Amino acid sequence: TSSAASFVPEGADLAALRRAAAGCEGCDLYKPATQTVFGAGPEDARLMFVGEQPGDVEDRQGEPFVGPAGRLLDKALDEADLAREGVYVTNAVKHFKFVPAERGKRRIHKAPSRGEVAACLPWLHAELSQVRPDLIVCLGATAAKAVLGNAYKVSERRGRLEHVDPYDVIATVHPSSVLRAPDRDEAYQGFLADLRVVRSHLS
Ligand code: URA
Repeated sequence: TSSAASFVPEGADLAALRRAAAGCEGCDLYKPATQTVFGAGPEDARLMFVGEQPGDVEDRQGEPFVGPAGRLLDKALDEADLAREGVYVTNAVKHFKFVPAERGKRRIHKAPSRGEVAACLPWLHAELSQVRPDLIVCLGATAAKAVLGNAYKVSERRGRLEHVDPYDVIATVHPSSVLRAPDRDEAYQGFLADLRVVRSHLS
């Protein structure tokens, strides 16, 4: 089965992990993708946000959450009094999975399979062991299941403090789901409420 494990250098710092991840061929997603999108942020961050996988813009720019979902995340972080500069931001899966689009059109994201999430998990574990955040925030079901197990239901347990030894974890919805919600303002307020719970667990 596919796994990134053999590509992850043991005991490496974030910079070395990032360089090694650039050459990861642990599953097939590297083939159509432009590049690996590794996590970004300070090594001493107290908070680690985990998304699903890079989107179209992230795949081109090589940085996590710099597209539309990232803008919404930035705005919500700001409103919840959480500075993005102090946060380490990454994804459960480090390559963009997509349906090819016509020339010049934005490529449409495709959800990663469980096997692809599992294959990429060694990178997330390596990031966690370097950053050792006080709190992990899972954005959406893919990240939540990767960190909290496949039985975890974001819709039922969002915004609650969970624990996966040795980490405290809070899961919420994905910022993209806020952008797609029929009542966007209500969805945004719910997302913000969860981030305020995150904020309250930091001080
Ligand atoms: N969605 C994600 O889950 N991650 C990104 O980096 C961008 C969009």
